[in-house]
Amino acid sequence: MTVDSRELLEVARAAAAEAGRLLVQGRPANLGVAQTKSSPTDVVTEMDTAAERTIRAAIRRHRPDDGFLGEEGGSEDGASGVRWVIDPIDGTVNYLYGLPAWAVSIGAEVDGVAVAGVVLAPQLGEEYTAVRGGGSFLGERRLRVSAPEDLAQSLIATGFGYRAERREVQGRIVAGLLGQVRDIRRGGSAALDLCSVAAGRVDGYYERGTHAWDRAAGALIAQEAGARVEGFHGAPASEAMVLGAGSALFQALHAALTALGADGRDY
Ligand code: IPD
Repeated sequence: MTVDSRELLEVARAAAAEAGRLLVQGRPANLGVAQTKSSPTDVVTEMDTAAERTIRAAIRRHRPDDGFLGEEGGSEDGASGVRWVIDPIDGTVNYLYGLPAWAVSIGAEVDGVAVAGVVLAPQLGEEYTAVRGGGSFLGERRLRVSAPEDLAQSLIATGFGYRAERREVQGRIVAGLLGQVRDIRRGGSAALDLCSVAAGRVDGYYERGTHAWDRAAGALIAQEAGARVEGFHGAPASEAMVLGAGSALFQALHAALTALGADGRDY
């Protein structure tokens, strides 16, 4: 059965909008921490769990046979070949602190290939969308990556994991990069970092430790804006590395990061 990517995008947009409303309107003044994962800084809020439940229910109303992978609700098999990859709040720490750079991220895959994605940042008033082969958009505006070739002229976004041991290594790597680039940004949402690459708001982005749900929609949005989004040495983007930039800068950033040992296994 053929699946229409644009229909999937509309389902995703409606689900993201519903979750976005819940997250903005329902955010308690004294936001409670429901549970912690790998370390106390990995804050999983009650709102996070409620938002993912809302998203799954909204999608199921239209597409009862699809599968899911979500940060909070785990994996559920489907029978249709379509799988939804959901991060109900990407940028949880920003959300917790009342910083606006957090997003609902929903990607749709058909037989394992990303075909549609939405990253909705309600408090920024921004909705990024893409369908495979159809370009990517911020609202109605078509997006295009920036095209600097020189690392020294480039603004690079990155993020840090929740584990202290990983952060120490990430800190050493970013320190080594800092002297080679225009500047570094740490926005706090991998999905929005990838959208910023798409919009040319940063020139490149890299991070170790992201999960499929952090990247699913944002990677497609960046690719559809002309970015190369991969891991190290030709591997697909994965938890080990996601690196996104226009193709000339991609190579320069890849070279700088590998020279700093960022492709090593020890973190
Ligand atoms: C996190 C954010 C953050 C990135 C972390 C992610 P979460 O996702 O995207 O920017 O640095 O690697 O885990 O926990 O807020 O969904």
